[in-house]
Amino acid sequence: MKKIVCFILLAFTLLNAKEFNAPMKTYMESLSVEAKAQNPNFTGFDAKRGEAIFVSKQAGKKGTQMSCTTCHTTNLKNGGQNVNTNKPITALAPSANSTRLTDVAEVEKWLRRNFNDVFAREGSALEKGDVLTYIINQ
Ligand code: HEC
Repeated sequence: MKKIVCFILLAFTLLNAKEFNAPMKTYMESLSVEAKAQNPNFTGFDAKRGEAIFVSKQAGKKGTQMSCTTCHTTNLKNGGQNVNTNKPITALAPSANSTRLTDVAEVEKWLRRNFNDVFAREGSALEKGDVLTYIINQ
């Protein structure tokens, strides 16, 4: 009986584990190396800092105030809308959409575009790592 309970608990923990897949782990590791090279005091990515980036309002590439939430909304479990094309965007939270944060090329491409839309520049390794750490936990 005890064994069964242990097994169920373990299975539950594994199901709930908010982990990147192997290619994404490698990508996060490379962001980490870059962040450390840029700042020797870097000790790791932080979901709280990532959330602050995600909700922060910026002047935007086109001069209209923007944040990541403009298209993705503040509840990442819900879908959003691309304000440039009016096309719907499915939920960004991996808990609601299991395909999210699984494809490094896709993630890199959209982070480049989306940081540009909002911050009118590319994200730093620290910013990208923080924001991905925030999203994976949603
Ligand atoms: C102008 C609208 C818009 C804004 C603003 C925006 N995004 Fe996106 N984002 C999109 C679209 C469109 C996609 C790609 C369509 C899709 O995957 O559903 C996308 C995809 C992504 C993905 C890819 C996820 C995956 O694995 O499929 C990430 C990560 C992401 N956005 C993060 C961000 C972050 C961080 C910000 C703020 C810096 C941001 N987005 C701001 C529209 C936007």
